[in-house]
Amino acid sequence: MTGRKKTRVAVLVSGSGTNLRAIINASEKDEINASVVVVISNCEDAFALKRAVKHDIPNYFVDLKEFESRDKYEEEIVKILKEHKADLVILAGYMLLAGQKLINEFENKIMNIHPALLPSFPGTHSVKDALEYGVKVSGCTVHFVDEGLDTGPIILQKAVSVLDNDTEETLHNRIHEVEYELYPEAIRLFSEGKLRIDGHRVKVMSDEEM
Ligand code: GRF
Repeated sequence: MTGRKKTRVAVLVSGSGTNLRAIINASEKDEINASVVVVISNCEDAFALKRAVKHDIPNYFVDLKEFESRDKYEEEIVKILKEHKADLVILAGYMLLAGQKLINEFENKIMNIHPALLPSFPGTHSVKDALEYGVKVSGCTVHFVDEGLDTGPIILQKAVSVLDNDTEETLHNRIHEVEYELYPEAIRLFSEGKLRIDGHRVKVMSDEEM
């Protein structure tokens, strides 16, 4: 491990949180120089919150409905992120679009993972859309978050072959397996200062270039 300070990671979730689990595991095994310092969900019953409890990670349910506007909701999210001194915000199955408040406060410090090879098949039904389109290869993408829907600069991608007998579930399961490696890897690169954004391109610096 480097002598660098650990990256303080905040994870925003809405659902089961298996990517959260993969990130916590990588951090607990010291595979990444980062630790998950807070988990925030917009869904009260997200299983991801239970995972946070299991690992003694501070966790919050923030209900969008309790705020008069999306901006006010995000102000609350930003407040929590700052209280926990987050360096990096990870969207992991977070079903809301990041708004301007969050993006301004954490410019180039928010990542998302998407279960398709962007820019193909953005949106919430990407696995189904890719399968119905008939692609032979899909995969997953980790990208920085901008104002658009799955449009930010791409950090890492990995392909997954589509099989003739795939269903949405079987394909998504295999994509998930790849996500569990790709997301911690993107966090590792960020924490080592190896990601350089140049326009819409992200350059991954080698050790020699550092
Ligand atoms: C993942 O497939 C991710 O690509 C997408 O939402 C899913 C979240 O799964 N953005 P989980 O909650 O991490 O299990």
